[in-house]
Amino acid sequence: MGKINIDVHFTPVYLDEMQLKDRNIVVIDVLRASTTIATALHNGAREIIPVSSIENAVKISGNLFGDVTLRAGERNARMIEGFNLGNSPREYSEEIVKGKSIIFVTTNGSAAIVKGKHARHLVVAGFVNMLPVVTFLNQLQADVTIICAGKENRFCIEDAVCAGRLINELERVRGEEMTLDDGGLAASVLDRYYGTNLLWMLENCDHGKYLAEIGYADDLQACAVLNQLDIVPTLYGNVIRAPKKT
Ligand code: MLT
Repeated sequence: MGKINIDVHFTPVYLDEMQLKDRNIVVIDVLRASTTIATALHNGAREIIPVSSIENAVKISGNLFGDVTLRAGERNARMIEGFNLGNSPREYSEEIVKGKSIIFVTTNGSAAIVKGKHARHLVVAGFVNMLPVVTFLNQLQADVTIICAGKENRFCIEDAVCAGRLINELERVRGEEMTLDDGGLAASVLDRYYGTNLLWMLENCDHGKYLAEIGYADDLQACAVLNQLDIVPTLYGNVIRAPKKT
């Protein structure tokens, strides 16, 4: 196997769509978009349609809004007025999402995914679906760009640690070192330090503290579970689906 290159971006703010064209991309937004997307697909949602603004969500839903389409997402981590769902993974139960198309707008996560829409492959990763994403990347055997959604155009520790865990696990599975850029080297070290207790890390990071303050402490537990969901959310055109199992 040839050496593969991994680069890590701690915020998508300096990236543009054309720069990301044809790359293999992993988008990470541990709190909470990645976890919510993986949970929704695991519970049978037909697809997630990521959009970058509330206006686009409303426009796209148009007359689709109703039985088979749900509007979901957040602003300041709270459900948007007139929407069906917020961005808590605990809301996305099978009863609610099975068979549904979910138009999904979040502050950082969905916006980062939309930036990568011209990628060769784009998958979404959190701690909950780490292993299947590592397996996918191992089979891909190609260079990878990891984009951390970050927090309002800034670094956030939980996405960086998740990026580092992805790198460290991929290296372990491949049994050889990969070529990492400075972001990748930093993420790998951060995982070794802060990744030893994921729940503690989520409880002590800025966004985790904010979520707990506004009543979403239980979401931190849901987002801290490792390898719970066997799902690789994958962007096909403008929609995210779970690839069919062969
Ligand atoms: C985001 O995309 O900014 C997040 O998922 C925010 C959240 O709802 O916790």
